[in-house]
Amino acid sequence: MYDLNEDTITDAVLARFAETPDRRLKLLVQALVRHLHGFVRETEPTFEEWRVAIDFLTRTGQMCSDVRQEFILLSDVLGVSMLVDAINHRQPEGATETTVLGPFHVVGAPQPAHGADISAGLPGEKLLVEGTVVAASGEPVSGAVVEVWSADQDGFYDVQRSDLDGSALRATFRADQAGRFHFWTLMPAHYPIPADGPVGDLLGATARHPYRPAHVHFMISAAGHEQLVTHIFAEGSPYLDSDAVFGVKSSLIQPFEPKPPGATPDGRVLDQPWRHLVRRFGLKAAGTSKLAKAS
Ligand code: BEZ
Ligand code: FE
Repeated sequence: MYDLNEDTITDAVLARFAETPDRRLKLLVQALVRHLHGFVRETEPTFEEWRVAIDFLTRTGQMCSDVRQEFILLSDVLGVSMLVDAINHRQPEGATETTVLGPFHVVGAPQPAHGADISAGLPGEKLLVEGTVVAASGEPVSGAVVEVWSADQDGFYDVQRSDLDGSALRATFRADQAGRFHFWTLMPAHYPIPADGPVGDLLGATARHPYRPAHVHFMISAAGHEQLVTHIFAEGSPYLDSDAVFGVKSSLIQPFEPKPPGATPDGRVLDQPWRHLVRRFGLKAAGTSKLAKAS
């Protein structure tokens, strides 16, 4: 196999992978070769452009650490994360829609009691979140593990703030017998995704902004059900129609209702206006997602 040229090299490379024992790996690697060669044929890069592309990927890898995953961010801003999510959640009616996990989830967040204030003394407008977790049948899912996290009024997650000792605006709850949970947090702000690395350079060079609309993250897990990874977006937030990572779905946008000072549903009395988010989360039975075709 020599004297290969631009018309014959793709088939030669595909043939080199023909004996891959694992069928799925063979499909993936051959599709990668076909699409990559197609990209090069379409764009006809110069050596300098190819060097810049390799350098971009190198810098993307070098930006990764225990607390930063620049390749996921790249997948997010290219819409690939949401495409993979969509393919893996061709879901039945009734289930809450999914969206990206994002880089700010922390395993093992504190487990305060129902009704706790998880704002750790940070300033901002108080937000009462009341949720109910239900199965596809409509039955409550008691004992569901509900992880929540969100940004503060300046658009920062606790893990981005060096002035904070412990965690803030994140927690893990267990839904009660009726599938319910509730807690106090702060009204989140819209915020930029981390833009000080190669992904930020890409956004800048392509005249794209890095912002995400205001949202609260939820990850809900229960035996016998698929894990739900989603956000609820604040109606009226800037950037709902131009989320940097393409994660907004209209079913996930709702009012974070403004409330006047006074008594709250859980028996507090607040001397400041506050917000109220009430939401039902529908889980799918395990194994009911239509997954990507295997071949
Ligand atoms: C987030 O919502 O936390 C997020 C998602 C994708 C990229 C960056 C941040
Ligand atoms: Fe977020």
